[in-house]
Parts: sequence; structure tokens; C-alpha cells
Amino acid sequence: MTILNLAEDPTTLTVNTCPPRAYYIPYESAETASTGDRTASAQVTLLDGQWAFGYFPNAAVLPATFWENGDALLTATAPVPSDWQNQGYDRHQYTNVNYPIPYDPPFVPDENPIGVYERQFTYTPTAGHRTYLNVEGKDSCLYVFVNHQFVGYDTVSHANSEFDLTDHLVDGTNLLTIAVLKWSVGTYFEDQDKFRVSGLFRSIYLLTRPETHLGDLDWTITTDPSTQTGRLVMTRFEFAGPASYQLTDDHDQVVAAGPLDASTQIEVTGCRFWNAEDPVLYHLTITAGAEVIPFAVGFRQWVHQDGQFVLNGTPVKLYGVNYHDSDPRLGAAIGENEMRRDLQLMKAHHVNAIRTSHYPKAPRFYELCDEMGFYVLSEADIETHGTGALVGAGADGDKLADDSTYQPIFVDRVKRMVKADHLFTSIFGWSMGNESGWGQNFAAALDWTKQADPSRIRHYEQFSSRFEKDPAQTLPLVDCYSRMYLSPEDCEAFLKEHPKIPLLQCEYAHAMGNGPGGVKHYDELMQQYDNFVGAFVWEWCDHAMLMNPEAVDEAPVYGYGGEFGDEPNDGNFCMDGLVYPDRTPHTGLKEYQAVHLPVQLTAWQNDQLTAFNRLAFTTAAARYCGFARVTTDGVAGAWQVVNLAGLAPLTAATYELPVQIPAGVPVTLEWALGAPDATTPNEALGLQQIILRDAAPTLSAAPASTGKLTVSETPLAITVSGPNFAYRFDRHFGTPTSLVRYGRETLAGPSHWTIWRAPTDNDRNIKNEWQDNGFDRVVFKGDALTANTRDGQVTVTAIVGLTAVSKQRIATVETEWTIDAAGTLGATVHVARNGEMAEWPRFGLVMPLGGGAKPVHYFGKGPRESYIDKQEGSVLGWFETDAQQNYEPYVRPQENGSHIHTWCVQIELGTEVMTAEFAQPSSFSVLPYTAETLTRAENRRDLPVSDQTVLTLDFAQAGIGSNSCGPWLPAQYRLTPETIDWQWTLRFEAAGQ
Ligand code: GAL
Repeated sequence: MTILNLAEDPTTLTVNTCPPRAYYIPYESAETASTGDRTASAQVTLLDGQWAFGYFPNAAVLPATFWENGDALLTATAPVPSDWQNQGYDRHQYTNVNYPIPYDPPFVPDENPIGVYERQFTYTPTAGHRTYLNVEGKDSCLYVFVNHQFVGYDTVSHANSEFDLTDHLVDGTNLLTIAVLKWSVGTYFEDQDKFRVSGLFRSIYLLTRPETHLGDLDWTITTDPSTQTGRLVMTRFEFAGPASYQLTDDHDQVVAAGPLDASTQIEVTGCRFWNAEDPVLYHLTITAGAEVIPFAVGFRQWVHQDGQFVLNGTPVKLYGVNYHDSDPRLGAAIGENEMRRDLQLMKAHHVNAIRTSHYPKAPRFYELCDEMGFYVLSEADIETHGTGALVGAGADGDKLADDSTYQPIFVDRVKRMVKADHLFTSIFGWSMGNESGWGQNFAAALDWTKQADPSRIRHYEQFSSRFEKDPAQTLPLVDCYSRMYLSPEDCEAFLKEHPKIPLLQCEYAHAMGNGPGGVKHYDELMQQYDNFVGAFVWEWCDHAMLMNPEAVDEAPVYGYGGEFGDEPNDGNFCMDGLVYPDRTPHTGLKEYQAVHLPVQLTAWQNDQLTAFNRLAFTTAAARYCGFARVTTDGVAGAWQVVNLAGLAPLTAATYELPVQIPAGVPVTLEWALGAPDATTPNEALGLQQIILRDAAPTLSAAPASTGKLTVSETPLAITVSGPNFAYRFDRHFGTPTSLVRYGRETLAGPSHWTIWRAPTDNDRNIKNEWQDNGFDRVVFKGDALTANTRDGQVTVTAIVGLTAVSKQRIATVETEWTIDAAGTLGATVHVARNGEMAEWPRFGLVMPLGGGAKPVHYFGKGPRESYIDKQEGSVLGWFETDAQQNYEPYVRPQENGSHIHTWCVQIELGTEVMTAEFAQPSSFSVLPYTAETLTRAENRRDLPVSDQTVLTLDFAQAGIGSNSCGPWLPAQYRLTPETIDWQWTLRFEAAGQ
């Protein structure tokens, strides 16, 4: 046996590590301690940077004691932190539920890749000091060697490993070797839905500390809002010697100071409490012997009371996201810049809570959350989802959770998280892990957590879901009823039935591809029910890995599961974030932002607008000024300042806003926020709108209709010709197949009815039914085509069947096409849908308009794509676009770019403008691709560059929903009418009129 066999030993979780303790950094002086920058500490030697590196696909090929001459093996270098897959070694693999290795615990494949990292450092012994190595992350386990001697071993990828190196060090140059094995028994407990990467992916540093130094410490913080008092009570302080503290406020004023021991109590009167809106941090500086140790302390206290999460006396709602460590270039090795970028974007989109799915983060992350203000649900590094995907009776989601052999592993993983991170202010709750079934091992972990930290909420979704029928049973062990992807109906049923049990959705609104839809619906429930305490969107970012990392001038190419030859893989199930891999917001994030605007426009009535301040602790005017603007018939009025003074937290107020609402034209009211002293709003914070009067905008009058019309008929088609045009209707399609104007063809192919959209990721289940019903390959059946001339216009009546091979008729579409001498084409459409068949993705008319630039001007909900259940991020108005600009480049191509609530669309076609005017709000899109092309492409890099314009005028589309993982689309968003009646006109005018 070699020491590498430790990786298969479920009873050895660690060898020679220091006991887990709270994260902190000691400094040699108060001055350096006050920088808050750990690299400024003379006691810290950061070891991040280039290390010598060797990757070996099979650890077994290395000499049994390779570390004795390890340096001879290493021919390359690699940065630390990094994962080796992003350095060109091994290969990427994305798998969700399925384990990447055979399920054979505690054993792992014989072929177990190893990465060996090595670097030198200089050490000068200082009498009475010890030197510790800290490794903040390794996937999946590590072995540490110093000067060719074994020092220790550790597991748990997302936990810090601390080793005392002192007895292995020599004066002068020392060699540090860290070997990381890809697979270990830990792999069975880290089956999270993510790209599986390996190596030293977080920072590494040495700490040099006096022999006698602070070990672990703990405190509890309480707040009393009635007296505005904050208390910090030390409950553990492992230091054998005199110590003292100083507490300063955020203006560096000393508010308390004195000697410190394990029972010190610090009371702050006139205390400013911490919350995510106003993350006030005090600074506690502890002097213990020669060390000065700074802590940021937020005074805050959470209690769960009457079904609510109450922070410093005020109930709080959690508007959250799930956050993985993921970057297309860095993999899991994200650093402070990436974290800040993400947290800033979250703030700008009104996210106030984060679940650290599905493992604890690096300490810097929690520090940033303390500083920037987020409510964090910190999750232990536990997921054993794959046990449910085994075969036959072996498939058992509880297999590991209920096997007492593994109890130490479960408890250890929770313990290491709580121990390391419990001094961070932002963490309000401990989550036991994700999707790992239920059993005695979780009961033990929850029990341990209750003893260790009664001040925080305990969370475990798989325990809650077990007690669906009797949720009250869960409360002794967890502090909220947590579920994922409940439908709004199921949420509401729960909320009504159990008003004293807090409901939290640790995952909802699956943001995969074009999604999520329905966010507003959940939010309405959150506002309505006190006990709906929070919900976390799945998830923050699309996970992808760069496929062209070396490219300098090329656009990045993102790959998802299966594109790296990885097996098993879960395809694009990792592309389910609110932001693209490069952090460009998806339209779903803009939807989220508008829904969660902190001060909302809730109504306008009798010349008064009502605004509601959602902030729980902040008067609206301290943060924002309101701005309202009325747009009448497309003409925007000036923004008017709405002074929000006096709008207390969680209250509504009305403000005078007289509006003229003339008949016959659309009138809308927009609402935005800006800084308190701003004169114009910051629309980047999101925009809300109320449509005060819904109507078509005024357009220039239709051209006069003069001249003579002629009708010619063949067995296959009818052509209606006027002074400057000839429109042909094919019996087979029943729609215009040629629209010649001034001798030029407008259509690049026949226009035709469609019920197909390129399935969105959220259509992934229903799409099978659609395809089975033949919706993607409709066969037209011309039933009748006749023409009549009356009152100077021709009416072509077309009856056409939408049929499917091997299946029954899907629908019959009867259209009266009217053509006048000016060439205006009217459509009165009646559809009889066969109710035996599946609900429809859409009903519309596709018009291929050919290549070249074709500017589009429309009055509808834009500028972002909008759908029936995803339209809050857009407003009704006039917008300009074209097929390129309107196209939303999802990494896996799918339906995109629709605009709901459209009254008219104008497209420049060379010398003419074609205008579609709807008698009722409809939808449309212009895209460079057909739905069929988008359907076929697996990755956007497969799509050809296209200058085509495909116009689709839609009666309606089905909603977007969240069904890639969430519930079925709610009934009100499905397209299931028995009949459709739809009217619109197409007219042409010379451009520039
Ligand atoms: C959940 C799981 C997440 C993710 C999501 C689907 O069940 O907790 O990790 O897999 O489904 O994207």
C-alpha cells in the first residue's frame, strides 16, 4: 500500500491537519491589520503564482514514493490557483446527476489522474514560531510533502486544509510538493451538477505565527432594536495568554475596548445594525500576544418567528440566486475580480441573497458579501445525487445518507463549513448540502449544527420534501420548509395551509436558455404571503468552458457537456444561468431586475400613482429618487421627479400625477429610479410600466386606393395584380407565395402558416410531444382557394389544412385575404384547432424577406424579447431593430427575439416600407434564421453567418416557463384555444414618407 491509497479509505478524512477553526488572518501590527489585505501581513507568505507541474493520467505509474524525487518528474509549470483541465490537461467533463466514475465506494478507478505541484520557498527559522500551510481548495484530495517528506493528507474539495510544516522545514530553501488526486472517496460526496475540474483551484499561503497563538474563537451577536443595542458575546477564545480588543465603528471611532477572554461581552449602544441594504461593519481588532487579528463585525440577529425570517426585528424577504464558482477560462478557480464582478451585477439587478450552491466558497467571497450586503445561505460540500441513478433496487437516493459507515464524512463536511465560516456576518443559514437523500447522517449533521450555532437557520431541502404531507414535522431539525421548483399553485396551497411555517424555494425559475418565465407570478406570491420568505433562481451563470482558449482575435467559443468528448455528460444542462458565460445579462436577468425593482410603481388611479418601497430597512429617499414619464401615442413626455421623502420601509404612498388620456391612442406610464439627487433616472436599474390606455399608435394614413385590379387563376394559384404589384396565393399554402412590388419580389420564399418554434430549453419536455404530433413538419393541404371582386377590392378566400404525416389534421385555417388597388393586403384569419392534439408552441405567418439590411421599427414590447410570462423586462413603445440586432445568441440556439403586445411592425424593404398592423396586440420577430435552422443547431457556432431576415407575425406564442427543471407551464400561458380569430393588414409605402 502506498499513501495514495488513503484516497480510498473512508475512515481517514484527514492526516496531520490542524483542527478546523474560524477563518482569520493574523498581522504583526495594528497598522497592517487595518489594511484588510492579507498580503500586507508580514505573517503571510502567499504562494499563488507559477508552480512546477506534472500531470499523470494514472497515478499508479508514478514510483510508489515519487515525492522523494518529485522534482525530476515535473516538466511543465501551471498557475496556482487553477484547475488542470483549463491548463490543457486531462479533459473537461460536465455531468449532473450521474457519477463520473463507476459507483463502487469507497473505491475509485484504478486509473486515477494525479497532478503534482511543486515550488520552493525560503524559510528563516524564528525562535518560538511555527509555520502553517493553508490550502483553500483542492479537487478532490491532496497530499502535502515538504523536502521530500510526507506531511499530511486532506479531503473535502471546498474546505481549507491547514498543516503545521514547522518540523519539516530547514533554514534556507525548502521544497513544497502537493499532489492532487482526481478521484477519491470524497468524489462520492461531491456529485454536484457542474463541470468536474481538478487541482489546486484556490489560494495557498503560509502563516508564520508565534508558538502561542490564538486557535479557534467564536461569538454570538444579538441586536435589540428597541434600544438600538448590539451585543457581541465571546463563547470561545482559545488563547493561553492575555489578550485585548478594540471595536471601532465604520468611521474608525473606538466604541469599545478592553481585555478579552472566552467570556467577554461587548455592548454597543446606538449601534448601527447590519443588513444587506446597509451593510454597516464594525471592526474588531484582537491583540493576542504578538498578533493583531482583525475581524469585520456586523451587528445583526436573525430569528425565525411566526413563519417569517426576522432580521433585527424586521421580516426580510430573500430575493436570491444560486451561485456556482464558474468561469469559462478559469473553471472553478475564480478569484476576487470574478467574484466582485458577479456580486456587483447581482446588486445592480436587485438580488439580495445567495445560496452557495453547492459547496462553501473561499473566505474572500464571504468577506465581500459582508461588505457589499448579501444574505448568504452557505451550503456544505455534499451531494450524492448519483446514488439515485443506479440500476434497479440499487438506485436509492438515501444510500449514503443513511449508511452509518459514512456518518463521519457527512458530519465532517458540515462541521468544516460551520467552523471555518461562522464569523462571517452575511451568512444567515447553513444548508446541509444538496440532493443527497435523507437519513441518519443528515440528522446527525443537523444536530451538530444546532449545538454549534443555534443562531442561524438550518436548511436541507431533501428533508423538507420528505415531509410534504406533514411539514410541521421538519421543524425540530430544520428551520424552514425548503423546496425546489414548486409550481405557483403548490406554493400557494402550502402558504395558505401552513401560515406559520416559512417556505423557501432554494431553487426556482430554471434560467436555462430563453428563460425563466413566470418570475413575476412567484414574486406576487412572495408579496402576498408573509411566510413565503425567499426564493433562489437556478442559477446565476451559464457554465461553459472555452473551446478556443488560445485564440486571441477570435470570438470565444463556449462548449458545454459532450463537446469535449466527455462521457457521461449532460449536454447543455449547465447553460442555465441568468448571465451568459462572459456575464452578459440574459433577458431573464432583466426580467428579474424589473420584477424586483426596490421601489415599485404599483398603480395609477385618479391622477395618483402609488409607489411601494420594498426595502425593509431603508426609507426610499435615502437611496432613490422616483421618476415617472407619460408616453402618449408614442411621444414620451419628460421624466418627472417623484420625491420619495417619507416613503418608509415596506410601505406604499401615493403621489399626484395628473395624466391626460385621450381616446384612441396608446398612453403608458413609465417608472424608473435614480440616485436621490439625480435629475434623470438610471434606466439601467430597470424600468416598470403601466399601460394606461391600450391602443394602436397613430400611423400615417394608408395610401389611397386607385387603379384597377385583375385576377388570374391557374389550377395551382390565384394572382391578384394592381397598378404596381402582383400577389400570388398558392392553393397548397393558402398564403401569399409571391408579393411582387414594382417588379421586385418581396418574399425570398413562400410565406406560410407556422405552429413551430425552435424549442427553448424550457420546452425540452413538451417538445417531444410537439414533434410526435408533427408540429415541426406540418404538411399543408389546400382545401379551397377562390377569388371575388367587389367594391374595388379582391377577396381571396383560402382554406388550408395543417396536417401531419401519420397523424390527424392539426388545424384548418380559413383566411380572407383582401387586396385593394393600393396593394394593401388584409388578413382575416379563422383557425379551428384540433383539441385532440398537443398544445401549440405558436400560431403565426412566416415571411422570408431575403438578405441585406432591413431596418425594423415596431410598436410593441421591447427592446428585449418578450413573451406572455416574460415581459416585465420590456415595455410597450416604439423600437428600432433589425434581424441581427433582434437575435438573442443563446449558446444552444432556440426560439428568441419575439415581441409580445405588438400593434405594428414596419420593415424597410429597399425603396418601400412594409407595415403590418394588427387589429389586436400580437407578436412578431425578425431573425436571421428560420425556426428550422435554429432547431437543428446544437451550438451557436454551428450557425452560418446570415444576413437574411425572417419575419414571423404571430397571433401568439406559448409562454416560456421553467420546465427544463421546473413545473409545467401554467395553464394561462399555454396556447390551447379551440379557435383563433386574428386580423391584420400589410401595406406598403414609399420609404421616407
Ligand atoms: C437541481 C439541482 C441543481 C441543478 C438543477 C438543474 O435539482 O439541485 O444542482 O442540477 O437541478 O439545473
